[in-house]
Amino acid sequence: MLSTRDLSLSFGGVVAADAIDFDLLPGERLAVVGQNGAGKTTFINICTGYLKPTRGIVRFDGVDITGHTPRSITRRGLGRSFQLPQIFTEHTVRECLLLAASAPIDARPGEPARPRRRGGFWPALDQAVDSAEVDDTLALLQLSSRAGDLAGALPEGQRKLLDVAMALVLRPRLMIMDEPTSGVSSDEKHGLMAVLMRALDERRITSIFVEHDIDIVRRYSTRLAAWIAGRIAADGAPDEVLRDPLIIRNVIGG
Ligand SMILES: Nc1ncnc2c1ncn2[C@@H]1O[C@H](COP(=O)(O)OP(=O)(O)OP(=O)(O)O)[C@@H](O)[C@H]1O
Ligand SMILES: [Mg+2]
Repeated sequence: MLSTRDLSLSFGGVVAADAIDFDLLPGERLAVVGQNGAGKTTFINICTGYLKPTRGIVRFDGVDITGHTPRSITRRGLGRSFQLPQIFTEHTVRECLLLAASAPIDARPGEPARPRRRGGFWPALDQAVDSAEVDDTLALLQLSSRAGDLAGALPEGQRKLLDVAMALVLRPRLMIMDEPTSGVSSDEKHGLMAVLMRALDERRITSIFVEHDIDIVRRYSTRLAAWIAGRIAADGAPDEVLRDPLIIRNVIGG
């Protein structure tokens, strides 16, 4: 579903992606671990068009998407969420989803820009996008009761859910989540992951998630890749990777 060959990117003297060869199959739930600065976010940013690699290629469903814009990659069905939630804090939760759902609408070449502002921006947006889809996605991520609240007023866990919801409203087939539980207290992490994973299962979405908490990794992944210095140092069944002495020494800190 997603594959990279020789994917490389350096920032000055720092090699953030070092000739990465990677393949993801449909249905996998891949956890990504690695110490701070190992290159996890860089890899995601290259795959989703936020950074251009200096070398190598990214394919999604067999199509070369290397260097494509984030918007065009999103439109192909590859969604992502961010280490720091990218939500519109001055807007309500529902408005955030309406805006996210409208993202591809005015992007198609040759079509007039939508939504038109006649009758006001929000009613127009409500008509231009599939609002049933917006409400369905809010319910899926257990955000319906917060629909009318300002996004900026949400606690961190619900900000994370909203960030994912803004990607899911566009019906991705692959979802990449960069630290979906960071900033959330440890007793809230499992509940948050349970909601996320149930949502992804229900919509049959393949997923990759970056996670520092090994309990969460064990519980929610079917496969684990460990990053060290811009490379995938181990990749396989979670139990096996977590037993690997190199990974215990360099990643988990045993
Ligand atoms: N835009 C940038 N400009 C310069 N250096 C960068 C940039 N983005 C990342 N880096 C460097 O690339 C390396 C990999 O960073 P990256 O953010 O991918 O790590 P990470 O594994 O996501 O870490 P964390 O767990 O802290 O989120 C680090 O040395 C980082 O300082
Ligand atoms: Mg990161």
